Amino acid sequence: MEDFFTLRTVAWAGRSVRMIDQTVLPSKLVYRSYARYSDVATAIKTMVVRGAPAIGVAAAMGVALAALDSTASDKKGFMADVEKAAAVLKSTRPTAVNLFWGVDRVVRTARRASTAREARAAVVAEVKRMEEEDVAANRKLGRIGAELIEDGDTIMTQCNAGALATVGYGTALGVVRAAREAGKFVKVLVPETRPALQGARLTAFELVRDGFDCRLIADTAVGYMLSRGAVDKVVVGADRITRDGWVFNKIGTYQMAVLARRHHVPFYPAAPRSTFDLERTHDQVTIEERSASEVVSIRGRRIAPKGIPVGNPAFDGTPPELVTSIVTDAGLIRSPVARNIRKVIS
Ligand code: MRU
Repeated sequence: MEDFFTLRTVAWAGRSVRMIDQTVLPSKLVYRSYARYSDVATAIKTMVVRGAPAIGVAAAMGVALAALDSTASDKKGFMADVEKAAAVLKSTRPTAVNLFWGVDRVVRTARRASTAREARAAVVAEVKRMEEEDVAANRKLGRIGAELIEDGDTIMTQCNAGALATVGYGTALGVVRAAREAGKFVKVLVPETRPALQGARLTAFELVRDGFDCRLIADTAVGYMLSRGAVDKVVVGADRITRDGWVFNKIGTYQMAVLARRHHVPFYPAAPRSTFDLERTHDQVTIEERSASEVVSIRGRRIAPKGIPVGNPAFDGTPPELVTSIVTDAGLIRSPVARNIRKVIS
C-alpha cells in the first residue's frame, strides 16, 4: 500500500523540538529546532507551528524542554519551573483546546513522579508517546471518515487540517488520504482561507506534493461552488468541540456550514479526542483576535488604506444543528451530535 504520510510537522529530537516552519511555506520547506520552551512559545504565537493537534504536541514538548532545563534538584523547585513554563505556553493562543490538553498532560506526568530526576525521564517518555499517538489517532479517524466518502467525490475543506496541522497525516486531510488509500478517487476544493492563507499556502502545498487532484478557489467562491453542485461533502478540522456540540474552527467554517446545509451537502468535522472540551459550552470559548496586519496586508504587502479600523477573529463556532456527523478516532458521532458526544467520547 502506498504511504501518504510524508510530512512530520513536529518531532522530539532529544534536547530540542524540531518543526517545519509554516511561515515560509510553500516557497521553502525549512525545519527549525528549538531547545528552550520560550522559543517554542514564540513559534506557536507566530504560527511557525499551527493547527490544533500540532500546537498541542509542540506545547507539550515545550514543557518537557523546561523540565530538562530546570536546575532544581528538589521536586518542589522543579515543579515551580515546569508550571511557570506551562503558564507561558498556555498564554500563546486561546482557542484550540489541544494546547491546554497537551500542556496539562505533561504537567500531570511530572507531578506523578516522586523525584525531579524521575519526572524528567517521565515527561520525555510522555511527549514521545504523544507524538506517536497523534499520528495513530489521525490514521484511525481517517479510516472511519473514509467510509463516508464515495468514489469520485469532490470534498471541500477549510484552512489546513492536514499533516501540517498535526504531527503527521492530518484530520480532515487524513480522511481524504484514507479514502485514497481505500482505493477511492477523490478531488479536493481548497478555499484560500484569508487572512493567513492556510488553504492557499499549506493545504495546496500538501495536496500538490502528494499528487492529489485539487483545485484552489477564492474564499468568495465557496457559496457558488456549493450552489452549482460542485461539492459532494465538506470535511473540515476543529480547534475545539464543546460539550454542547459546537464546533470551533478557522474563521469561515460557519458560513461554509450554513451554505452546505442550504445546498444539502453533508458537513463533517474531523477531530481526535484531544480536540473535545467536555467541560465547556460554546459561550465559554475565547475566540482569538489576531493582528490587524493580517487583514490590511497580504504577505507583507499593504492592500487597505492606512487608518481603516479592522476586525480579525481567527475562529468561529458552528452550532450542532448544522453538523451531519463528527469523525473521531473513537468512532462517528452521529446527529444529533450534542446528545451523542458522550456516547463516543468519554
Ligand atoms: O490558526 P490556525 O492555522 O492554527 O488554525 C487551524 C485550524 O483552524 C484548523 O482547521 C484546525 O486546527 C484543525 S487542524 C487538524
